[in-house]
Amino acid sequence: MTDKSDLLALLREGKSYISGQELSDRFGVSRTAVWKAVKSLRDDGYEIEAVSNKGYRLISSPDVMSESEMASRLRTVYVARELHYYDRVDSTNVVLRRMAEEAPEGTLAVADMQEAGRGRRGRGWISPPGINIYMSLLLKPEMDPSDAPMITLLMALAVADAVIDVTGLDARIKWPNDVVTGGRKICGILTEMDMESDYIRDVIVGVGINVNQTDESAFPEEIRNTATSLRMSGGSAVCRSELVAAVMNLFEGYYEEFRHSGDLRGIKDEYEKLLVSMGLEVRVLDPKGEYSGTSRGINDRGELLVELSDGTLREVYAGEVSVRGIYGYA
Ligand code: BTN
Repeated sequence: MTDKSDLLALLREGKSYISGQELSDRFGVSRTAVWKAVKSLRDDGYEIEAVSNKGYRLISSPDVMSESEMASRLRTVYVARELHYYDRVDSTNVVLRRMAEEAPEGTLAVADMQEAGRGRRGRGWISPPGINIYMSLLLKPEMDPSDAPMITLLMALAVADAVIDVTGLDARIKWPNDVVTGGRKICGILTEMDMESDYIRDVIVGVGINVNQTDESAFPEEIRNTATSLRMSGGSAVCRSELVAAVMNLFEGYYEEFRHSGDLRGIKDEYEKLLVSMGLEVRVLDPKGEYSGTSRGINDRGELLVELSDGTLREVYAGEVSVRGIYGYA
C-alpha cells in the first residue's frame, strides 16, 4: 500500500464490505499492514466497520482536511498530485511562492487557517480555522503574460461547477472571478504571476471559499451584507476535502482545454451559463469614466462584452463591474 489514501479511495468506492484478504491482494501487502492502515484511519476520525467473514466498510468521514483525505478523492493526472496541507500558514500564496522554483506544475498548498490571508486590490482575506478552504495552485504555463488572466476565469468556473456538484446550490460567477450564491460572495480568487522579461516563470492561483460559517457574525462588519458561506446558503455542512478535490478534478480538464486552444473558446459556453450578469444591466467603473450597458457574455479571451444603449459592444478587460442585485447594488 503506498499510503492511507489508496485504502481510503478503495473503501469509498466500495458499496459493500471489502475483505482484508482482497485488500492485501490488491495492495500486495500483509493483512497486518492492512489492519494498521485501517487503525490509522480510525485514529484520524474515520468510522470504519469491521465484520468478521465480510471485511471492512467505510461508515463516515470526518470533515478533516488532510493530505490523504484530499488525495483519495482526486482523479487528476498532475493537478494537486503534489499536495501540501498545513494547519496554519501566513498565506498559501506566499507558501507556494517560497517553493515555486523547485515545485512541479500542479503543486497545491491547502491550509486550515491563514494569519495573513491576502485579497485582491491590497485587501486582506479573513481566514479563521476549521471552517473554510484556503488553497493555492502552482502553474507553469508556456504562454504570453497577457494570457495569464484567463487562468483565473478557468478557476472561477471550476469552483462554481464544483459547488454545484457537491452541494446542489445555484452557484454563479460574477465576472471575472468571484463565485456567488444568492447574490453574495462565497469565493474569491487571487492570481499572482512571476515574470522574467517577457516569459512567465509561474502563476499562483489562490482560492478562498467560505464553506461552513453558520451565521453573519462570522464575517467582519464591512462584508456582512455582501458575503455568505455555502452552509448559510444551503443549510447543511459541507465536507471541505470533497470540495477541494472536486475543484481540482474540474480545473485540470478546463486547463488542458485552455492549453490546447490558447484561449477560452472551449469553456466559454459553460462560463456564460453560470455568468450571473448575463443579459442584465451592469455598471462598469472604468477609470476613464463610468458607464452602463447590458452584459452579453464574454469573448474568447474572457473579456466581458457590454452592449451600450446605441447597440455598440465594448470589451471590458479589467476593472470593477457592478451587477444589479449582486452585493447589494440596487
Ligand atoms: C479576493 O479578494 O476576492 C481574492 C481572495 C483570495 C483569497 C485566497 S485564500 C487562499 C489564497 N491565499 C491568500 O492569501 N489569498 C488567497
